[in-house]
Amino acid sequence: MENQEKPATLPRIGEPAPAFKAVTTQGEINFPEQYAGSWVILFSHPADFTPVCTSEFMTFAKLEGEFNKLNCKLVGLSVDGLFSHIAWLRTIKEKIEYKGMKGMEVKFPLIEDITMEVAKRYGMIQPGESSTKAVRAVFVIDPKGIIRTIIYYPLSLGRNFDELLRVVIALQTADAFNVATPADWRPGDEVIIPTAGSCGVAKDRMESKEEGITCHDWFFCTKKIDKETVLKKITGK
Ligand code: BEZ
Repeated sequence: MENQEKPATLPRIGEPAPAFKAVTTQGEINFPEQYAGSWVILFSHPADFTPVCTSEFMTFAKLEGEFNKLNCKLVGLSVDGLFSHIAWLRTIKEKIEYKGMKGMEVKFPLIEDITMEVAKRYGMIQPGESSTKAVRAVFVIDPKGIIRTIIYYPLSLGRNFDELLRVVIALQTADAFNVATPADWRPGDEVIIPTAGSCGVAKDRMESKEEGITCHDWFFCTKKIDKETVLKKITGK
């Protein structure tokens, strides 16, 4: 193993988000410490002044209020410098009109990472795709600073923002109600009740026909939680 570079440990779901300090378009940040108590989406984009990234930033700016209602803040990153970030965000605000979005102001911090230190630590540099640009990474981090979801997209593929909102809502719902969320779940759909500790208990549950619970088999029971109850619990409204 002599002279071989040690592979970097990549962040993993269920582990603390790696800490760093960085310069951003909104001043310095101390991540994730200063976000304690909030959910945060840390995301990367390949480069300023590129079209897919521009469409994404306009959409992030449009939806920032929706994320904030979920107590979720946004933090962007690319390996460009601060002056490039500032010039690009000004261009977006002053010049770009796209899909009904106009005058979009990006108010959340955009990290400059010209040394790629943060990007490398977070596995955002994936040389098979590009060794000079970050891929489109998404890290959803909870109020305790734990990584709860990681999604990576390639350079050519813009993110699905319905999915990003759905991920935050589903994670918060799972925490608040001690449930899991099935395929394509959206608020108002049935949720999954964790399998009880033993087959015996689960079998009892199947046979007792608890009110509001449907068991498809001993390991697969669901119940309805209506949309208003979900949203009230997670947003407090
Ligand atoms: C884009 O955002 O359009 C883009 C950025 C880097 C490579 C390819 C596309």
